[in-house]
Amino acid sequence: MRRAARGPGRPGAVTVRAARLGDAPAVAALSGELGYPAEAGQIRGRLRRILARDDQRVLVAEDGRGGVCGWLHAQASEALESGFRVEIVGLVVAGAMRRRGAGRRLVARAEAWARRIGAEAVVVRSNAKRLESHAFYPSLGYVASKTQVVYRKQPRA
Ligand SMILES: CC(C)(COP(=O)(O)OP(=O)(O)OC[C@H]1O[C@@H](n2cnc3c(N)ncnc32)[C@H](O)[C@@H]1OP(=O)(O)O)[C@@H](O)C(=O)NCCC(=O)NCCS
Repeated sequence: MRRAARGPGRPGAVTVRAARLGDAPAVAALSGELGYPAEAGQIRGRLRRILARDDQRVLVAEDGRGGVCGWLHAQASEALESGFRVEIVGLVVAGAMRRRGAGRRLVARAEAWARRIGAEAVVVRSNAKRLESHAFYPSLGYVASKTQVVYRKQPRA
């Protein structure tokens, strides 16, 4: 008789791989958890464009059963004032899979990419209300460097 597994995946069995177009539905569902609800079709279109670029990386974390339980999007860019760096522009781990090392593994892979391409720093902006992220990043060695206000305007408004 097979023993029933607990939770959505086996603890400690999280792995990380590059995202594929077929991950769009899972990535979309997790985007909702991040507070950016999106249709799988929208995410698929964005993924197609992003995956075609050398300056972008999308990684997914898989639970022990091959289900996608987290994703990270990082992009490399060069700014006049701050040089060549990699920015983590999105990261989320499914609520039921948190504190099992998925976030740490995703960030470690993004950092390995940053080292490989010669980035001077890895940066991330995180909303002040994301309390767990303000425990998470310092635990990985990230140091808070400033507080910003994000302004937004539609280009044709
Ligand atoms: C932040 C987030 C990505 C962390 O993912 P995770 O897979 O749970 O993180 P890990 O299990 O790899 O945690 C690594 C370490 O970070 C710290 N940490 C993570 N979550 C924490 C929490 N809620 N409280 C305190 N410390 C925490 C711990 O030191 C942890 O190590 P430990 O579990 O051995 O003590 C996840 O909580 C999440 O998706 N939050 C909502 C979205 C978000 O805030 N995204 C980041 C926006 S940029």
